[in-house]
Amino acid sequence: MKAPLDVNGLRHVAVIMDGNGRWAEARGLVRTRGHRAGVDSVREIVTESARAGLPWLSLFALSTENYQRRPRHEIRSLMALLRRFMIRERPTFMENDVRLRTVGLVDELPPRVVETIRETEELTKGNGGTVLCLALNYGGRRELLDAAKRFAVDAAAGRLDLEAATEDDLARRLGDDTMPEVDLLIRTAGEMRISNFLLWQVSYAELVFTSTCWPEFRFPQFEEAVATYHGRIRRFGRVITEEER
Ligand code: IPE
Ligand code: IPE
Ligand code: MG
Repeated sequence: MKAPLDVNGLRHVAVIMDGNGRWAEARGLVRTRGHRAGVDSVREIVTESARAGLPWLSLFALSTENYQRRPRHEIRSLMALLRRFMIRERPTFMENDVRLRTVGLVDELPPRVVETIRETEELTKGNGGTVLCLALNYGGRRELLDAAKRFAVDAAAGRLDLEAATEDDLARRLGDDTMPEVDLLIRTAGEMRISNFLLWQVSYAELVFTSTCWPEFRFPQFEEAVATYHGRIRRFGRVITEEER
């Protein structure tokens, strides 16, 4: 069996899974076939993350902008796919000790979909391996706005001292207060933008872009992205020492 991914020093990998539509169109298939093929990549990346012991994996599955702006039939098919994924992948999560979490305005999705998501979160909540965080109906600015609102409410109620408030006080009020900062952000399909994903948490993430479309992003491509990460020097504003070079 191939050696697991080298996740040494990595706590959180986030992926903008892009290019399902283009992958399908290039093969003369409808876009939704691309989303279906993308599910196989999700399964492989999740199981490989778990096998390597990666603490946290966040996947951008649906942005608020996608949910509001894509054709209704594409959204309907994405919702059906998501629901099926939540049910069918339960054995994968349990066998691999994966805990499912979500960020985004999940409760605004169709009730039947929300139900399967909540059930899967509940089923996997005792798992202590990789946290798989799916961003669903997610927008980074909205997450920050909601955190700012909680911040204001807590300050007005005297639970927070504005003068002494720190960055952590805001971070604690984000969508998932247990999410670590992103170390590595991968985006597939050649686009070089953030598209409103985890704006706060990617502040010092290493960005890796690949032209591979998501349905073809599998273990070798994941390994390559992680190897690129290991070749980077993270300065965090410091001057680096001779040994770090
Ligand atoms: C990413 O693939 C999946 C979702 C946004 C749901 P796209 O659907 O954005 O694929 P392209 O970018 O049109 O190729
Ligand atoms: C970002 O991809 C959202 C997801 C991958 C779920 P998009 O395909 O929606 O991003 P843009 O529109 O190209 O910026
Ligand atoms: Mg896209």
